[in-house]
Amino acid sequence: MSGRKKIIITIDGWSSCGKSTVAKQLAKELNYVYIDSGAMYRAITLYFLRNHIDWTATEEVNEALSNIQLDFRFNEHSQQTEMYLNDENVEYVIRDLVVAEKVSEIAAIREVRNFAVAQQQAMGKKKGIVMDGRDIGTVVFPQAELKIFMTADNTVRVERRFRELYEKNPNVTIEEVKNNLEMRDYIDSNREVSPLRQASDALVLDNSKLTMEQQLEIALSWVKERLLA
Ligand code: DC
Repeated sequence: MSGRKKIIITIDGWSSCGKSTVAKQLAKELNYVYIDSGAMYRAITLYFLRNHIDWTATEEVNEALSNIQLDFRFNEHSQQTEMYLNDENVEYVIRDLVVAEKVSEIAAIREVRNFAVAQQQAMGKKKGIVMDGRDIGTVVFPQAELKIFMTADNTVRVERRFRELYEKNPNVTIEEVKNNLEMRDYIDSNREVSPLRQASDALVLDNSKLTMEQQLEIALSWVKERLLA
């Protein structure tokens, strides 16, 4: 399926419903670039927390953003793209609950979004890209050839996220994970600037009861349709 035509694939949806898994599967299958846009908001949040930035002050936010350089670099060893903040690999530390607790608040700031969205749009210039996030099909690439909107049952999402975090930190509780997911979904879908929305032309993928193979099969069938269009 990796002929000459290249498209843009966007994957939006609620926190922890498996967007990155599908995005990585598709990118691998199609030999496309995978971009985790949430990692950019997480890296910005990490910078703000470490540097005690008052993110309610616009000037301070702008000054901080001017000191932030974000890059995605491919790690040959893990065969994954990793997030770098000012030349430091932050791929693992940005997954921490400390960052997750603040990221939605920071991602709601207009200046932060403008900063991240401009870089995301530049990455899509050559197409052949799969990007996941909250506003990718609505704001970043409204012209994308394939838009997927993912959802999954709440209990399934909490369990998946808990298992992921528990591996790194056995002190984490189900209650903490549930509260964090609910809070992020609320802020992400109610913020003023580019809230999480299903694009009118997005295809819905509910993976509550699907295996990894089944979800990939469905997504690939949609890609095939778009490549033939
Ligand atoms: O996909 P994620 O859970 O790693 O994203 C972390 C946060 O970043 C999420 O709670 C909302 C924000 N985000 C966003 O506002 N827009 C995006 N395109 C991606 C993420």
